[in-house]
Amino acid sequence: MTLSQLALLFTAKTDLRPSKTNLSFFVVCVILALIHQLPLFTPSTHIGGSYDRRYEAVAEAFRRNFYEGREREGASLAVYHKGQLVVNLWGGYADRESDRNWQRDTTTMVYSATKAVASLCIAMQVDRGLLSYSDLVIKHWPEYGQNGKENTTVEDILTHQAGLPIIDETITLADAKDSKRMAQILERARPIWTPGEKSGYHAITFGWLVDALMRKVDPKQRGVKQFVAEEISRPYGIDFDIGVSQDQIHKIARMTLPGFMEHIKETLIDLRFLGMFAIFYLRPPNSIVQKIYENPSWADIRAFNSPELQQLDLPSVTGVSNAQNFAKIFALASNGTLLSNLTFELLKTPTIDYWHIDEVVLYPLVKGYGFFYEKHPTIVGKWLIGHYGYGGQSILVDPEHQLVVAYVSNGLKLGTGELCGTYQRIQRSLYSIL
Ligand SMILES: *[C@@H]1O[C@H](CO)[C@@H](O)[C@H](O)[C@H]1NC(C)=O
Ligand SMILES: *[C@@H]1O[C@H](CO)[C@@H](O)[C@H](O)[C@H]1NC(C)=O
Ligand SMILES: *[C@@H]1O[C@H](CO)[C@@H](O)[C@H](O)[C@H]1NC(C)=O
Repeated sequence: MTLSQLALLFTAKTDLRPSKTNLSFFVVCVILALIHQLPLFTPSTHIGGSYDRRYEAVAEAFRRNFYEGREREGASLAVYHKGQLVVNLWGGYADRESDRNWQRDTTTMVYSATKAVASLCIAMQVDRGLLSYSDLVIKHWPEYGQNGKENTTVEDILTHQAGLPIIDETITLADAKDSKRMAQILERARPIWTPGEKSGYHAITFGWLVDALMRKVDPKQRGVKQFVAEEISRPYGIDFDIGVSQDQIHKIARMTLPGFMEHIKETLIDLRFLGMFAIFYLRPPNSIVQKIYENPSWADIRAFNSPELQQLDLPSVTGVSNAQNFAKIFALASNGTLLSNLTFELLKTPTIDYWHIDEVVLYPLVKGYGFFYEKHPTIVGKWLIGHYGYGGQSILVDPEHQLVVAYVSNGLKLGTGELCGTYQRIQRSLYSIL
């Protein structure tokens, strides 16, 4: 039942003698119902791209997000099935304020979904026999074994168990631009739990850890950014960069954050946001998340329209791409091109699938090999593999159906993953036709 129906029901069923409580409850209901129905902005009708007729329902879900005013700026969606691009759609604005439409080659920040690509790089190194997930990190990177970190495994880093979601030493932008300095900061760092004992999302440090490890393992000492460029993007003609060059900045859509009214409207559509806000606002001021915000202080999501951050090599968050290019990477990873079947088989099952509350996100998460997993919606005992990013960005691989789905937008949403209504509608429509 929508709130407007609730308000009507209230008018019909209650005795509306002008008692104060009755009246104020009624007024609140009407206001909420209005906000729920209110278009907060003029919907864009600009939609481009193409799709296979069998995926009409998916295209319809994508279009509805715009027509119903749920997609504030722009978005792109791609689906690969058995290595074939079956849906490639984009629409809305690359920048509403300057009336710039989203085009075929428009890109956006994919935020934490970048971690899926960093993790794929590690999988490619494993595939080439250069390291194993069970290796101790110090086997490849001896200097890491300081301050109680000597027993950390590669998989501990990938499943956010390294104990370094936060670092005491202040990380400056200059440090972040210098991979040697970052590696030394990580070497000196003291974990906040015994590595391997707990898991808590390493929102920013994940990328630096993986990057420093990569440089030790790769025969050419390449970091994640260079590895992606030389082994994935260039050879397969894919537009995906971790930190872009100056001449690519003009293609990036302008990211905007949801306003106050959109917070209310989306909460009315999905009441689970109340739980999210509770977790967010009720946590103590010295929580791990708070400390992540404080250090590095310059890695503020709102600042990601700044060209300086868009050019920064930060393998946790500065991936720049669009849905078609992002999805293609994982189409190649799952059809035997980037990874052997054997390594891809391994990735199908999470390594942390027991129920636990993530120490940072304070929410139960299933993890493995740098990815997040969710139960397969139709096949019992199987998993979907992927990674979400801030504001609704998403990359998803369904090995059972040989599907890859990528969805990115520049009108950042209140919630990501399960809480991103626009993306969930698309995913549901896809499984309704499979
Ligand atoms: C894998 O997918 C890519 C991208 O669609 C395609 O070009 C390639 O032919 C596929 N390879 C195999 C072995 O299926
Ligand atoms: C690492 O593991 C060894 C062998 O189990 C143990 O003796 C040592 O105390 C561990 N080190 C740390 C810092 O936990
Ligand atoms: C890998 O898996 C694909 C699809 O299941 C299959 O066609 C291919 O023959 C396999 N390749 C190897 C080397 O096993």
